[in-house]
Amino acid sequence: MIKDPQKVKVFITREIPGAGIELLKKEGFNVSVWPHDKPMSPDELIEEGKKANAILTLLTDVIDASFLNECRNLDLISQFAVGYDNINIPEATKLGIAIGYTPGAMSDATADTAFGLMIAASRKMFYLHKKIMKGEWTFFRPKADLGVELKNKTLGIFGLGRIGVQMALRCKGAYNMKVIYHNRKQNKDAEKLLGASLVGFDELLSQSDVLSVHCALNNETRGIFDQKAFSKMKPTSLFVNTARGGIHNERDLIDALKAGTIWGAGLDVTNPEPMDANNPLLSMPNVAILPHIGSQTEEARGEMSRLAAMNIIEFYKNNRMPNVVNPETLTMGKPGLNA
Ligand code: GLV
Repeated sequence: MIKDPQKVKVFITREIPGAGIELLKKEGFNVSVWPHDKPMSPDELIEEGKKANAILTLLTDVIDASFLNECRNLDLISQFAVGYDNINIPEATKLGIAIGYTPGAMSDATADTAFGLMIAASRKMFYLHKKIMKGEWTFFRPKADLGVELKNKTLGIFGLGRIGVQMALRCKGAYNMKVIYHNRKQNKDAEKLLGASLVGFDELLSQSDVLSVHCALNNETRGIFDQKAFSKMKPTSLFVNTARGGIHNERDLIDALKAGTIWGAGLDVTNPEPMDANNPLLSMPNVAILPHIGSQTEEARGEMSRLAAMNIIEFYKNNRMPNVVNPETLTMGKPGLNA
């Protein structure tokens, strides 16, 4: 043990499910949890962050340069998510603050969400469900609200990592879809598993019948699905995004759907979140939207909780973090220095 856990103040920014909090307490850490069921304000976050050696954060916590510079006692931040675009990683790294995250835990749950949205949008399910609720289920109409089928279509994955592979496996298994993908790096294992081929971005746009986004949000991907990108897609195509709302330009997506530049969309992420209840996307027949539920299962959240706790425990026990974003911080100075 590098530091006596009782001297380590761990602050958790919201009640989380699963065993994580218990694991930390069992190891003897001095744990406190924000007791309210809503995101902390920046002031509240700074006030608690200043007292903590480690914080367990959620996507809704804005961890910017000013927070990081105010919280001088922080050794590490353990993020309860696979994405960490809410954290200023270069600044944290400069300050020697290790950042943990929870990859792998939600790959199945998020792929299920993408797969479900694809089917829901292709058959206008959310729109037709709303019609029943409005008393508009009248009689059998042979030509009304026809959907499209997915068998033997081409699936394009933008960002073929853990979640993208799971989405592709579902699409291949259920619909024998051909898989193409666009990545910065070739994913040879996934190619073997899926028979997938790496294509350029323009080819991904022009060949995909379903284009599913599974990349991180960063300066390269922010707003990449814009008017220009949609204009290169098939008018019969379906755009699915379960990654981050900032990766598509919402105004351009609305225009593309209205103009028939693309056929439909399935979104688990929007920009901003929460989405405004009057957003025109919500009343479009070929669109299915969910309120960012990718990891919202007992299994995924339980595993995220365990991984987030283990990142803290292993940091103070063995100077390692099973899932670390900036490993260089582990050798920058003495771990647990601030505790
Ligand atoms: C969810 O969006 C995550 O990044 O875990």
